[in-house]
Amino acid sequence: LVLVVDFGAQYAQLIARRVREARVYSEIVPHTTPVAEILAREPKAVILSGGPSSVYAEGAPGLDTSLLTSGTPVFGMCYGFQLMAQGLGGEVAATGSREYGRTSVTINEPGTLLAELPTEHRVWMSHGDAVVAAPEGFTVLASTPGTPVAAFENVDAGLAGVQWHPEVLHSEHGQQVLEHFLTKIAGCRQTWTMVNIVEEQIEKIRDQIGDRGQAICGLSGGVDSAVAAAIVQRAIGDRLTCVYVDHGLMRQGETEQVERDFVAATGVDLKVVDAEKQFLDALAGVSDPEEKRKVIGREFIRVFEAAEREILADAVLGEDGDKVAFLVQGTLYPDVVESGGGAGASNIKSHHNVGGLPDDLQFELVEPLRELFKDEVRLMGEQLGLPAEIVWRQPFPGPGLGIRIIGEVNRERLDILRQADAIAREELTKAGLDREIWQFPVVLLADVRSVGVQGDGRTYGHPVVLRPVTSEDAMTADWARLPYDVLETISTRITNEVAEINRVTVDITSKPPGTIEWE
Ligand code: XMP
Repeated sequence: LVLVVDFGAQYAQLIARRVREARVYSEIVPHTTPVAEILAREPKAVILSGGPSSVYAEGAPGLDTSLLTSGTPVFGMCYGFQLMAQGLGGEVAATGSREYGRTSVTINEPGTLLAELPTEHRVWMSHGDAVVAAPEGFTVLASTPGTPVAAFENVDAGLAGVQWHPEVLHSEHGQQVLEHFLTKIAGCRQTWTMVNIVEEQIEKIRDQIGDRGQAICGLSGGVDSAVAAAIVQRAIGDRLTCVYVDHGLMRQGETEQVERDFVAATGVDLKVVDAEKQFLDALAGVSDPEEKRKVIGREFIRVFEAAEREILADAVLGEDGDKVAFLVQGTLYPDVVESGGGAGASNIKSHHNVGGLPDDLQFELVEPLRELFKDEVRLMGEQLGLPAEIVWRQPFPGPGLGIRIIGEVNRERLDILRQADAIAREELTKAGLDREIWQFPVVLLADVRSVGVQGDGRTYGHPVVLRPVTSEDAMTADWARLPYDVLETISTRITNEVAEINRVTVDITSKPPGTIEWE
């Protein structure tokens, strides 16, 4: 275990991911965590992240220097590097020469940390202050135009640091630097591999559930719930039942994909609830985006809970009086970090919404992906033998096509949009762009009509909007520059093959100011 101390920059998650890419397990802890608590977890090493502040700024997060003398190897990056320097008696000063973005670093003495790296290479910097004198016992390894001490190490003490951000892709050889620290200075073993992770998780799930009760998992068609279900199925077999609510707002072929391919790959016991009519009835006359979301969310809970009731009515819930059921959820590590939770004890909550279930029935949450990043979840899905279409599926909103029809949602409009959407997705796949494009919504402007001409006749049809975007995390996004010939094929095919659509447009708005979806 390597602990990344988060000093409030956006980089801590990235650092933790890079450590794991080096096949060493890592977790993030807030900088307010007492040193005793950090050491109690017996980390093989601690990494101090960058931070937004100057070490001299008022209210700047500090460092309890006992961490540096505890014998646990420590690596500092950027702000963490400066804290280390300051805490060990070196000198940090406002040199007046700020460095932001790409900088060239010169290695004067490679030492262990920078061994085998080119003497000059580009790194990503973001700092105002600089370390001007290294602490005693440290070797200065590198400098940049604005930073006399840009990297140092004290291998015997297990301490090292760099002024730059080795975790970002713009820093050349960043991963190498990190691995040098982890393996050569901290002596970490590289054993965090997907095969081991899957085995460990299966054991954990068996420990948690034991031979008690029945587990239920809601499948959305997305990768997280699919992988969570697949691994729980490996652990407890047919005591898991998956529920898939078909709300009629899915894209072409998606429900079949879950029903057929997912079940074939996992052998999961799947209950598909066809609730299209219920959802469409509830959506009749609704065109406000938030109202649509509310209606869909409300109906979803109703349908899901009815399915739960049915499954649990027949289920053997363990020994007498031990009425425990388990709810499997695909919670990911970033959700855990962002909600302020840590490695915490197993999360147990009673479920109050399930009308008609015995009062003493408790739902215990099973969250097998709580420690994983999205890319790791995909690797786990591959390891578990899930089909690529599920493992690499782009994000899709819970309310489905309901929020991609601008105006009221009905069956006819959904069918029109499904046809156009299927063409766009098919052509994107053909062009080999699925993994480059984050998401590719197709939006039907159902209340808008425009005049067109086709054959000899005038048409009065609807426009669709293509909304291909690139993104890292959906918080920000850019419009994707799809090749013109791909756009052309999509446009021609949609207007030829979908009778009600006579115009295809492309949305070229970034987020912000736009959002990815139109509603
Ligand atoms: P926006 O449109 O806000 O979307 O840029 C950001 C990401 O969230 C997805 N999204 C949703 N997901 N329920 C969901 O589960 C929703 O109501 C919802 N609205 C947007 C969207 O597809 C994108 O990935």
